[in-house]
Amino acid sequence: MMEFGTSFRVRLFGSSHGPEVGAMIFGVPKGTPIDLARLQGDLDRRRPVGRRLATRRQEPDRLVVDAGLVDGRATGEAVRLHVANEDVSKAPYEELRHTPRPGHADYPARVRFGNSADLSGGGIFSGRMTVGLVAAGSIARSVLQSEGVEIVAYTRSIGEVPVEVDESEPLDALRARVLANEVGSPDPAKALEMERAIEAARRAGDSLGGVIECRCDGVPVGIGEPFFDSIESELAHILFAIPAIKAVEFGAGFASARMRGSEHNDAFYWDGDRVATRTNHAGGVLGGLTTGMPLVFRVAVKPTASISRPQETVDLTTHTSARIVVKGRHDPCIVPRAVVVVESVAAIALIDLMLRGGFDR
Ligand SMILES: Cc1cc2nc3c(=O)[nH]c(=O)nc-3n(C[C@H](O)[C@H](O)[C@H](O)COP(=O)(O)O)c2cc1C
Repeated sequence: MMEFGTSFRVRLFGSSHGPEVGAMIFGVPKGTPIDLARLQGDLDRRRPVGRRLATRRQEPDRLVVDAGLVDGRATGEAVRLHVANEDVSKAPYEELRHTPRPGHADYPARVRFGNSADLSGGGIFSGRMTVGLVAAGSIARSVLQSEGVEIVAYTRSIGEVPVEVDESEPLDALRARVLANEVGSPDPAKALEMERAIEAARRAGDSLGGVIECRCDGVPVGIGEPFFDSIESELAHILFAIPAIKAVEFGAGFASARMRGSEHNDAFYWDGDRVATRTNHAGGVLGGLTTGMPLVFRVAVKPTASISRPQETVDLTTHTSARIVVKGRHDPCIVPRAVVVVESVAAIALIDLMLRGGFDR
């Protein structure tokens, strides 16, 4: 079963080219406001339509909540929500049935599930499955906001174009800039450079990846379950469920390996009556528990697997080598669409651990 969580559980259903995709969400506290316009707004952020740079696939992604909601509030029963798959074109995938696309799940999925698996559009491995994650994450964020927790994800780099971010900037200001451009960049000038890089990759029949950073402010101290369900383990667990994520790091992350203890240790001080740290190399986590400092992590998104150039593969029926051209409609860079997905899964993992830790209202 495609399910995550213990107290706030999210179960995904559907597939890329089936009738629908969606989620069942168990454990939404009774009375939680569920603002459909806000949910739809979050879904629109991961949708390609309206984005100049993305796939030409036209998906209205109109959200329907089937259960668990009355008069704008959660009933305490399971919430079921879905969107219909309205722009489905299976033909390009039929042609590739026996020639797995490089960079996609086709080959291992075919071996694991056999010829009957419907891998059109990537089937259950598709980025389209993140519709349910974003809708569930939107609800999780409403609960978190009532606890004073705010989450913002943004693009830190696309291809070779990086963005510098001031970690002390208030999240509201950061969010406003991130939402103001197509690539989710906090820096408008860099956003244009990123757009140009993506367009150049598209023209070359190629694709680009990038890094998304996420900051969660207002997280109470001590969230996380020792030992295996630490905040890092749970976040990594759900972040790696997002298709195309290849790496996760917290705080100074891989750079920690080159630092000395004297440099890496974050010194404590009193900030009024709360304990804070002068630096945040730990990314807001010590011993798998939150420290009360901003929770900061980054994910690496690989370059889109579907590129329009001819590629080498194998024919699984004839046992010969083959060349394929992946048709269909694909984004030359999925980083901009994945920003809201990262924000959403962070909210799901956080609220689940907070409810487990007794932060229930
Ligand atoms: C929101 C989103 C949209 C995606 N769209 C595409 C796409 O248009 N073309 C593509 O090749 N991959 C796309 N992907 C990534 C693939 O689904 C993914 O790379 C593939 O299923 C293999 O899984 P893996 O990269 O996690 O190993 C998308 C991912 C996300 C999160």
